Amino acid sequence: MKSFGHFDDAHREYVITDPATPWPWINYMGTEDFFSLISNTAGGYCFCKDAKFRRILRYRYNGVPMDDGGRYYYIKDGDTVWNPGWKPCKTPLDFYECRHGMGYTRVTGEKDGLKADVLFFVPIGHRCEVHRVKLTNTGTVKKTFQFYSFVEWCLWNASTDMENFQRNLSTGQVEIEGNVLYHKTEYRERRDHYAFFGANRAFDGFDTDRETFIGMYNGFNAPQQVLAGTSGNSVAHGWSPVASHRFDLTLEPGETEELIFVLGYVENAPEEKFVAPQVINKAKAHVMMDAFATGAQVDAAFAQLRAFWDDLLDRFIVESEVPELDRTVNVWNQYQCMITFFFSRSASYFESGIGRGMGFRDSNQDLAGIVHLIPDRARQRIIDIASTQFPDGGCYHQYQPLTKRGNNDIGGGFNDDPLWLIFGTVAYIRETGDFGILQEPVPFDNQPGTEVSLLEHLKISFSHVTDNLGPHGLPLIGRADWNDCLNLNCFSDNPDESFQTTENKTEGSKAESLMIAGLFVAEGKDFVELLSHPSVAADPEYVLGVKESVAAMEKAVKQYGWDGEWFLRAYDYYGRKIGSKECEEGKVFIESQGWCTMARIGAEEGLCDKALDSAKKYLECEYGLVLNNPAYTKYYIDYGEISSYPQGYKENAGIFCHNNPWVIIGEAMAGRAEDAWRHYQKITPAFTKDQELRKIEPYVFCQMVAGKDAEKPGEGKNSWLTGTAAWTWKAVSEALLGIKPQFDGLLVEPCIPIGTYRIHRRFRDAEYDLIIRNAGRGGKVFIPYKPGKQTLEVEV
Ligand code: GLC
Ligand code: GLC
Repeated sequence: MKSFGHFDDAHREYVITDPATPWPWINYMGTEDFFSLISNTAGGYCFCKDAKFRRILRYRYNGVPMDDGGRYYYIKDGDTVWNPGWKPCKTPLDFYECRHGMGYTRVTGEKDGLKADVLFFVPIGHRCEVHRVKLTNTGTVKKTFQFYSFVEWCLWNASTDMENFQRNLSTGQVEIEGNVLYHKTEYRERRDHYAFFGANRAFDGFDTDRETFIGMYNGFNAPQQVLAGTSGNSVAHGWSPVASHRFDLTLEPGETEELIFVLGYVENAPEEKFVAPQVINKAKAHVMMDAFATGAQVDAAFAQLRAFWDDLLDRFIVESEVPELDRTVNVWNQYQCMITFFFSRSASYFESGIGRGMGFRDSNQDLAGIVHLIPDRARQRIIDIASTQFPDGGCYHQYQPLTKRGNNDIGGGFNDDPLWLIFGTVAYIRETGDFGILQEPVPFDNQPGTEVSLLEHLKISFSHVTDNLGPHGLPLIGRADWNDCLNLNCFSDNPDESFQTTENKTEGSKAESLMIAGLFVAEGKDFVELLSHPSVAADPEYVLGVKESVAAMEKAVKQYGWDGEWFLRAYDYYGRKIGSKECEEGKVFIESQGWCTMARIGAEEGLCDKALDSAKKYLECEYGLVLNNPAYTKYYIDYGEISSYPQGYKENAGIFCHNNPWVIIGEAMAGRAEDAWRHYQKITPAFTKDQELRKIEPYVFCQMVAGKDAEKPGEGKNSWLTGTAAWTWKAVSEALLGIKPQFDGLLVEPCIPIGTYRIHRRFRDAEYDLIIRNAGRGGKVFIPYKPGKQTLEVEV
């Protein structure tokens, strides 16, 4: 089987050795508010704060060829033109390597005795990308060549940049000063920000006009200036502004030349925008250029970035006999959790950065992956999310990151949403012990003056379910539950309306969800534990009421939600079963098996084991558990989008990786270690055998892998920004390795068929070194929280 790369565990890097990966394999850079996406051929773009409104580099999604646009360096050596990252020229290289690390990417290419090594990173504390280029003559003869930089500017709003050409093509403006090329489109009017691309030494030529640099009918792979070894020294007026420097270089054999480029973004106060009419105030750009003028400065900034990630990833380390497990847990899964937290679902190679805001449910679930890494930011996120809730407990499905306001286009009515606030808050308090957050005043719908405590928000989240029960005493589904595509009140026969926002029938709907029922019971139990904790000491009568509601729900599930061998998925608008042996298609669904077994509903009667066995029997395949089986083969107007997908993809019997951990955790709670571990390995990319088939990055989880009914089972899509990151983290760290944060300490309760392993875990102000001797007996040991370093042996 063809391999495109391998892990380098010691450096926490993934090393790509063949640039023609089956799909661009990307990385992210940035830790604060300046972020970049960078592919293994240096494609991609950057933005500040918001991928839609402050896009710095232009990028063409869905382009041909794939992944065109990025930070390109060209070398013209005699008649040969090549790029260190292979693209866009695709000139065959003598050596190519891309190392994606924690917040940086390093691309190295070598051709005809010339080596170009480019390190890309976003330094902490600055709004820029730094590119350190090292050119080495590895041959035996003197080399004289031209070296070019190139980026293409986006006209800031990534959406109108692709649409409004009658305006766009007349607005582009640049300035050139010293070694720096500035992009200042719209700066003279309402924008108080500009971008720049500068070098740490004088150039021999430049271009800022795309047509001059590339040529009207050429591609990025054949810029006319590079082919000729010249520059046009062009100044862009409208059309498409770009930035390119040219350096004429000579290297003796063995000699190395270093160039540093800074691609930066600056905001100025309105009164400080100009230093002369039409001339922008470049002071902040100069500060950034000066900060990275020398190799020593770059080395120091890079060391600082590495220290940032080393410190974070020191919070949870496992040493076991399984390298795939260790590298997933210690590096890539936690890294992906951070990236998903930063980006939510906005910008990846599958999310265009102009579409979706922050999801209420998505963001709450993402917290579970980062509470142990960046608890302060988790706290702020919880308050931001809760502030978009309505007084009746419902909430906006999404909010906008720049304004933090709820998104009116989508509205609310997704009846699982409120419960995720309990989920996220409980995860945060278990990790931090910060019960004080419950007393924080939090508004409704961001309206000042409406504040109540966060605890009140949790209470109305809980009662939003009990206030909206259907005919079987099960939760009404609303627009949809976690599965956005099971649209039971939508009834759409119009291709021009959205499944997500259309409800053509709601009056008298009997559509109920067993997924929400399981979620309610699981989170209800957590909620009771929280309320009963001495630090909260809620009114006992209220707590009793919560317990009764949970018990009533369990009873309703057993009575109306059990199909004989598995849990039903839902009742439809008319009160007919979904996910039942009585159905023609879609007889078994994963979500209710996951949530009802995590909630342990009917465990004593054997329902959980039966449900897990059914998941194994009907849903499991070589690459994971599919969402439903059999797949829908036609469109059901009363089910909606789920039946719009060809069978085996997305929510119609795809392996929707996000929900596999629910079954994994359910398996672990049932003490079935072998099953839990097998399900985990199947969706975990580090265990990928066939990289070509999987297609996407072998170091991060993806949202969906084509299921057994698909044309090509095993093909992955939608990598990086997915709730799968946080859920697999929860599954592996808590359910499998058994390190479970509790309100007052850590519970060690593994369920994994691996003998002895070590865990290094920082928890609040404690640092535990645990040797876990796992005999597979299903035992557990509680370690009360105590600050300081402790080394413990735990036998279970
Ligand atoms: C997507 C959405 C998430 C939803 C899931 C299932 O991942 O971001 O909110 O739960 O699809 O439909
Ligand atoms: C589509 C996708 C689903 C996603 C939703 C979010 O319906 O199939 O996965 O959650 O869009 O908008």
